Amino acid sequence: MTRIAFLTADCMIEGNPGARSDAWEHTLEFGAIRPACAAAGIDLVEAIWDAPDLDPSAFDALVVGTCWDYTEKPNAFFAALKRFASVRPLLNPVGTLMWNLDKGYLADLAGRGIPTVPTVWADRADAEAVARGFAAFPEADRIVVKPRVGASAWRQARIARGEALPPANELPPGACLVQPFLTAAETEGEVTLMFFDRVFSHALVKRPKAGDYRTQSMYGATETAVEPDAEAVETAAAALDAVEGDLLYARVDLMRRGDGKYAVMELELIEPYYYPVQGPDLGRLFAAGLKRLAG
Ligand SMILES: Nc1ncnc2c1ncn2[C@@H]1O[C@H](COP(=O)(O)OP(=O)(O)O)[C@@H](O)[C@H]1O
Ligand SMILES: [Mg+2]
Repeated sequence: MTRIAFLTADCMIEGNPGARSDAWEHTLEFGAIRPACAAAGIDLVEAIWDAPDLDPSAFDALVVGTCWDYTEKPNAFFAALKRFASVRPLLNPVGTLMWNLDKGYLADLAGRGIPTVPTVWADRADAEAVARGFAAFPEADRIVVKPRVGASAWRQARIARGEALPPANELPPGACLVQPFLTAAETEGEVTLMFFDRVFSHALVKRPKAGDYRTQSMYGATETAVEPDAEAVETAAAALDAVEGDLLYARVDLMRRGDGKYAVMELELIEPYYYPVQGPDLGRLFAAGLKRLAG
């Protein structure tokens, strides 16, 4: 039987000392994919990415799974991934992961004609960057400033025209994106599409709690399964077409911009949550993709 590691983190294992409050998401996700992999002849095994005794050669391949603590130690994480990839196939490929770490990939997508959220790029989140953003987006009464490298709306700020800047520790610490605030965040929400080996699996809409605009469940947003319309599927597929090579898993977040078009808000190719509750059939697609790519 093919033996494949599903990389996770010590803090994602429920019951471990220091387990995160969202460790149940790992339990649910792994529980959805492991039996389907077994049925496809793959023994999928949980492995802690930074465990000192992790031997990549003990597996036929390694999947970057719920390594959600990597933002606290990105250098160690990418060093480990490069080491694994030098020994065994790693999914997604390490070059793709590195490209996806920095939201600068959105400029690459835009350059290929994929609709993205209009963005001004700045080296620092300062008054000058904010002023440039408001000048570039005259129709916007609010802008969003967020770090090029970040997740879960970390050090992201929404600023109204004429309003004072928030304190520095609430702004991106370095290079950042300045975007018009898309009001769809508060109305329609964000549409997320999941793909396995480039095959569409399921979609959901994430809506913030009243008074917020962030669509993460940790800020109280709701997640509801939806049947995406053709434009959403086409936009997400076009974004994936811009990425070469193997893509075992991919999450595309879309939000409608001012012109009414779906735009790519984020393409998550590192360690997305698969949303098993909204995609009960995902195990089958994940296992089939893993078998094609590494089985
Ligand atoms: N330009 C924007 N307009 C409206 N909402 C935004 C905008 N940028 C970010 N957001 C909100 O903040 C959330 C986090 O931003 P995102 O770009 O997805 O970064 P990350 O998830 O990596 O922190 C989004 O899911 C969305 O709800
Ligand atoms: Mg996001």
